Order: sequence, then C-alpha cells, then structure tokens
Amino acid sequence: MLPINFAAIAGLIIDDIVLPTGETRMGVPGGSGTHSVWGMRIWSDGVGLIASYGADCPAEILTAFDEAGIALHRAGANPQPTPRCWQVFEFNQHRTEIFRTSEADFYRLQPVLSDIPTEWQAATGFHLLHEVEDVPDFARHLRAGGVSCLLAEPPPTDFTPEHLDAFAAFLPLVDVFSPNWEESAHLLGIDNPDAIVARFLEMGVPVVALRMGEAGSLVAAGQKRWRIPAVSVSVVDVTGAGNSYCGGFLVGYAQTGDPLMGGRYGAVSASFTIEQFGLPVIDRSTAERARDRLRRAMGSG
Ligand SMILES: Nc1ncnc2c1ncn2[C@@H]1O[C@H](COP(=O)(O)OP(=O)(O)O)[C@@H](O)[C@H]1O
Ligand SMILES: [Mg+2]
Repeated sequence: MLPINFAAIAGLIIDDIVLPTGETRMGVPGGSGTHSVWGMRIWSDGVGLIASYGADCPAEILTAFDEAGIALHRAGANPQPTPRCWQVFEFNQHRTEIFRTSEADFYRLQPVLSDIPTEWQAATGFHLLHEVEDVPDFARHLRAGGVSCLLAEPPPTDFTPEHLDAFAAFLPLVDVFSPNWEESAHLLGIDNPDAIVARFLEMGVPVVALRMGEAGSLVAAGQKRWRIPAVSVSVVDVTGAGNSYCGGFLVGYAQTGDPLMGGRYGAVSASFTIEQFGLPVIDRSTAERARDRLRRAMGSG
C-alpha cells in the first residue's frame, strides 16, 4: 500500500440498499467516511479511512476497499456486529435509513485519537467528520503530527444553536469548514448564503465551502467569493454527495492552494457519487474522466 496522503476518520456502515423498483444491492460499503474517501480517490492514490467495524465485517466490504485501492484501518473499538443499515429509496430520491444494528453503539464506538496510525500523521490532509466537541482534540493532535490541511464537516445533528460555542471553538483550528446551507441557516438563524459564509469566516476559519445541493456551492476566503455550479450528470442517488464533495475539496485545495479549485474538485467528486446507488467504481478510466469533468467545470465556473 502507498503512503497515505489523504484520510478520513469516521464510521463505516454496511448498507443494504432497497431500490424503488424492489431491486436490492446488499452489503455495500457505506457511511460518511466511506463516501469521503471514494471522493478523494477520484483524484489521488494513497487514500485511507480509519473506521470502527467488527470481526464479522463481510469479506466483500474489505475487498471493495482493496479493489478501489483505498486503505482501511480498523479502529480499536470493534462494534459487534458491524454497523449495518437498510437504505430504502423512493422514486423521488427520498431515502429512509433504518439501523439493523445498535445506532447508539455506532455513535459510541467511533475512532479515538489513539486509533490514528503514526505513519498516517505524515498525510497532507485529513477530513474530520467528528461531532463538534471532538474536533479540537483531533485537529491539535493531527497538526502536531505534521498534517497540513484539515477539513471539518460535522454531522448534521450538531447544527443547532446550543452548539454555537463549540463551533466557535474549533473553527480557528481547521483550514476548511464545509457546512450545508439548510443546516447553517438553522445554526445561525441567517438564511442568506453570503451572510452565512461571512459569519463563519468571522469565527476564524480561513476557508468556507457552503454546500447547496443542486445549486452547487459557495466558496469563501477573505473577501473572495466563488459560486461553484454542480457538475451536470444524471442524478440517481444523492446519498454521500456532501461527503464526497468534501473529500474532493480537500485534495483539490491541498494540491493547488486555491479554494476555487477545491470547490471544483469537490463538485466533480460529488458528480461521480450521485450518478448511481452506492459508490462509484474506481478503475483505470476514472482519473481521465475526472480531468474531463474538471475541464468542463472550469469552462462553466
Ligand atoms: N440534486 C443534485 N443535482 C446535482 N448535483 C448535486 C445534487 N445534490 C448534490 N449535488 C452536488 O453535490 C454537492 C454536495 O451536495 P450537497 O447536497 O450540497 O451536500 P449535502 O447533501 O451533504 O449537504 C453539491 O455542491 C453539488 O455539486
Ligand atoms: Mg444534498
């Protein structure tokens, strides 16, 4: 396995997908970190996920990581059985997630600081999907280990006004913060995207990438603002779009130092995620197809 350049820390979920036609896709890798690392892998070798999973984790899941060329590091807490969910879809893309294993255990047994392999601390970038209260410890630890680019994407449930102080505490410690529009409006009590990104910048984070679904994203740094349109593809399932966008953003921003390019890489990664149920296939044509979509994104942005 190559040295790790980009990594995410998050829960792994085995998804059993039920399509609106009644067709099923059983036992596919899912969870926020999984979608993130697939979004990174579109652009980079040396990608890895740190996740908790049980000894019962099916070989097909581990093989899917191998086939995609993504390292999977098992965290110390081993939930038994491995977290597993039904993902039930309707024709209008509405998704219902039903935990088949303990949902409380899924959140309780997330990776901790000591689960980060020492060698991975030489990575360029980390995607933090932790609850807001846990971000500062991870950010300080990874920064001390030499990681240069940290992107935080806290879970949707944290975006409530009671958590505002915790947001203020971690924002100055990361390089990029990517919230979603609706969740930010709920957290801040402001609806206007320009006002939202301005507020987060004031709270001390250098770059904000506000995700706005099919309206694309609004990237902000200092006085600069960039509107990044979604890359046009035929949309099948938007699950993981935001996680994949963040994985792509992290690679693009770390490699170019340009927030605009971060947003474009993110939009391209998301486009690969939403054109099928489950994860995009990573093969020899992926890098070229990604470059092609990036050229298209540069033309329209
Ligand atoms: N319905 C959609 N049509 C086209 N692109 C989409 C759609 N939903 C998401 N995307 C793409 O994925 C990116 C991230 O998705 P978004 O919905 O903003 O994240 P999340 O759902 O995690 O909040 C968007 O900026 C856009 O590029
Ligand atoms: Mg969305």
